[in-house]
Parts: sequence; C-alpha cells; structure tokens
Amino acid sequence: AIERTFSILKPDATRRNITGKVNALIEGAGLRIVAQKRVHLTRGQAETFYAVHKERPFFGELVEQMSAAPVVVQVLEGENAIARYREVMGATNPANAAPGTIRKEFALNVGENTVHGSDASETASVEIAQFFSGNEIVG
Ligand code: CMP
Repeated sequence: AIERTFSILKPDATRRNITGKVNALIEGAGLRIVAQKRVHLTRGQAETFYAVHKERPFFGELVEQMSAAPVVVQVLEGENAIARYREVMGATNPANAAPGTIRKEFALNVGENTVHGSDASETASVEIAQFFSGNEIVG
C-alpha cells in the first residue's frame, strides 16, 4: 500500500551540507518527498519527539545533539514507505549498516547517524503531526 513516513535529516547532515546527497538516495529508492522544511529544534521539541527514549542512558546526549544545529524534517510517500525508508537508512549503528544505505555512506556514529525514520505506521502519524499540518503535505 502507499504509505507516508516521517524523516529527519539530522544536524550532522545539515552541518556537512549533504542534505541533497541524502535526498538523492531517498528519491533513488522510489520515495517521494511530499513535505520538507528546515527547522532548528528547541530542546523541548527534541524531548517531546524522543519521549519514548527518555529512560535510556543516551537520552540527554540525543536531545543535546538534535537541538544543536538545524535539521530538515520531511514526509516521504511511496509503496511500503515505512519499511522502504528503514531499508534505505540502514542499521541505527553505521558500523552495522549495509553498503549503499544512507547510514553506511554518511553516518559518523550511532548518535550522529544522519537520518531518523518512523518505525511503524502509528508512530509515523504522530511524528508527522508534530511538525506538519495537512495543507503542508502535497502528494
Ligand atoms: P533515531 O532513529 O533517531 O532514534 C533514536 C536515536 O538515538 C537513534 O536514531 C540514534 O541516533 C540515537 N542513539 C544514540 N545512542 C544510541 C544507542 N546506544 N542505541 C540506539 N540509539 C542510540
């Protein structure tokens, strides 16, 4: 089925000016960027977004990194978009990411891993709604 997923090009991507290279891999995988904007997350926005991880030992560093520089938030659309994007991203830790994936090509380490993508359709809906209103998504 045609799905939508939520994507973030993280601070390590904007800092290195490689958002276009990442988008080329996204589009090359058959995903359409149907909404996109550059934002600088506040600490509060990062905490809300990653609330599911708040008990994890890396939560503080994650919030710090995600609010330290601009990000690009996106909605991606396509056939099985959620699973498709997870394949294209590669493993969370770039040391385990397969060749040709975004994280293998570009990620620096598990924290600075270039992209985020939703893990399920329920989380995709919640994540999209945190950043986009309906009229900002143009399929
Ligand atoms: P992301 O898909 O954005 O979701 C949570 C993020 O936490 C994850 O990608 C990583 O960038 C970050 N993170 C930092 N340390 C770890 C870790 N040890 N295990 C999993 N995720 C981590």
